[in-house]
Amino acid sequence: MRKVRVNWQIKALLPVVCVLLAGLILCTIATLTLRDPDRDALLLLAGAGSVIVCGVTICVLAYLVQRPMVELQEKMALVSKGNLETAVTFSQSNDEIGDLGRNFNYMVQQLQESRQEIETMHRTQMSRAEHLATLGELATGLAHEIRNPLAGIAGVIDIIGRDLPATSPARAMVKDVRLEIDQINRILTDLLQTARPHPPRMMKSNLNTTVEHAVMLARQQVISKPIRIEIVTAPNLPEVQHDSDQIHQVVLNLLLNAVQSIESNGYVTVKVDSDGECATVTVTDTGRGMSQQQIAQIFRPFYTTKATGTGLGLSLVRRILDEHDGLITVTSEPNKGSTFKVQLPFSQTTEPAQVA
Ligand SMILES: Nc1ncnc2c1ncn2[C@@H]1O[C@H](COP(=O)(O)OP(=O)(O)OP(=O)(O)O)[C@@H](O)[C@H]1O
Ligand SMILES: [Mg+2]
Repeated sequence: MRKVRVNWQIKALLPVVCVLLAGLILCTIATLTLRDPDRDALLLLAGAGSVIVCGVTICVLAYLVQRPMVELQEKMALVSKGNLETAVTFSQSNDEIGDLGRNFNYMVQQLQESRQEIETMHRTQMSRAEHLATLGELATGLAHEIRNPLAGIAGVIDIIGRDLPATSPARAMVKDVRLEIDQINRILTDLLQTARPHPPRMMKSNLNTTVEHAVMLARQQVISKPIRIEIVTAPNLPEVQHDSDQIHQVVLNLLLNAVQSIESNGYVTVKVDSDGECATVTVTDTGRGMSQQQIAQIFRPFYTTKATGTGLGLSLVRRILDEHDGLITVTSEPNKGSTFKVQLPFSQTTEPAQVA
């Protein structure tokens, strides 16, 4: 049922009119004993007074209430068109209407700040996208120019190594060169994947196994160093939908960073867990840690503090996690260590689970 729209002036005036009418009736009854001419004059006076009171009331209300309401409506129309450089003038008055004005101005200011934040974020994303597009072209060119001759060099090195006598001291050197070639290949693969990642091949599988593989590989890298890598798996974790190759790479990158942050001896702990909605993998190290300014930079492509680093590890990690709808968070303290926490959502069909 449609409601009848009643103008606010009528609503405001109605009680005043009722009171005045009641007064007039009482006045008429009270003057019944008076002579007719005196009574008529008195009633006329009372009637005129009532009309004047109504007029004054409506003028005061129009000045105090209607004017701000009209201004508010105009400013709201401006805001809805996207103009956030506006404010109402009646916010100065020290009453409820003033409160309304102040709240409105505050709300517009908040909207303006949020819009600026969104614009800044958008600009950052755009510049990141441009950065990655340039990187893509660079990577394709580099891969073509470097990989093919590198494969040739690797082949020759293998042949030389095979032909050397078993007792030759040059064998160790050949092995080192082979390792360096593998390292260059790894960097190129990282570069290519950062620039042109293939979409993840999602499959439900055991996240513990994926993480265990990465830990096994990282352990081989620190075999001769006083660094211990511990793993705590979650045997009751339900299967997580993920691309095991890519998540393996994520964990391996985090582990290598953790290991590289430890100058002499130390620990790295990897923990697989669940926080209800997501499976989590936490990599904690007792390394050199990072300042807040450094943390703000580490996901940028090419940001590195290492002489031999490419600065692509973490940008690749974030890209892979973006495609898994996952998250990565960092906490760190200089000279104490760092913790990188990866969150991977369980697939929609899998119930969030508690890990025993
Ligand atoms: N666990 C950590 N402890 C301290 N610093 C870290 C850690 N992880 C990352 N960083 C800092 O973040 C920077 C960027 O890391 P990222 O993995 O992207 O590149 P990189 O390790 O320098 O090079 P790459 O991984 O390509 O070999 C590192 O150079 C380092 O300064
Ligand atoms: Mg790295």
